[in-house]
Amino acid sequence: MSKVKGKHNPYKRADRFTVAAKAKGFPARSVFKLEEIDRRVRLLKPGMHVLDLGAAPGSWMLYAAQKIGRNGRLVAVDLTPIAIPVPENATFVVGDAFALDSEALAAHAPYDVVMSDMAPNTTGNRLGDQTRSFELFMRALDVAEKLLKPGGAFVGKIFMGEDFPLAKKAIKRVFAEERALRPEGTRANSYELFLVGLGKKTVVIP
Ligand SMILES: C[S@@+](CC[C@H](N)C(=O)[O-])C[C@H]1O[C@@H](n2cnc3c(N)ncnc32)[C@H](O)[C@@H]1O
Repeated sequence: MSKVKGKHNPYKRADRFTVAAKAKGFPARSVFKLEEIDRRVRLLKPGMHVLDLGAAPGSWMLYAAQKIGRNGRLVAVDLTPIAIPVPENATFVVGDAFALDSEALAAHAPYDVVMSDMAPNTTGNRLGDQTRSFELFMRALDVAEKLLKPGGAFVGKIFMGEDFPLAKKAIKRVFAEERALRPEGTRANSYELFLVGLGKKTVVIP
């Protein structure tokens, strides 16, 4: 994701989380973030319908597909195709979360969980990266508001910045409970975290 070059690029080193993820058959270390979020808020259960936005290279998709089991359904979306086989209970859609028509996103709606690990290609311009991350977060939340069941849950990645209070406020409008989590698997130099909304309100006031 990052355009940082040279020997200090933390994304080039196969750290212990990356090595452990690959050993367990996951393409990326991001699996440990979802695993921790799942453990802390009891997100994923057998039979659930899940929408996974920003799904490539596929770690969250694989983890969630295993947790929801054969009676569950998962729709995974990314700008980039994935190299790993798509699980039987999942569909992978190549596309832009802003541009995809509602039919593609809503293939197994209403969802129990909408999760977004979407992130912009970072440029080194922190303010610009934060702004883009906030836009991706708000798009994911908008999709969640439309496609989640009442009582459903949302997880969205966001880069910490001046828009963060707005993102929290937006979650509180739609969900009964809001949590901010920074899983252990997050890189030390990263300023990302995850906002979680639990218990989608039956009536959401605009
Ligand atoms: C951190 S990666 C996701 C990792 C993934 N959750 C996993 O566990 O393998 C972020 C992803 O967001 C995707 N992304 C960024 N903007 C997007 C958009 N507008 N629509 C769909 N995907 C997007 C990127 O292509 C990238 O693959």
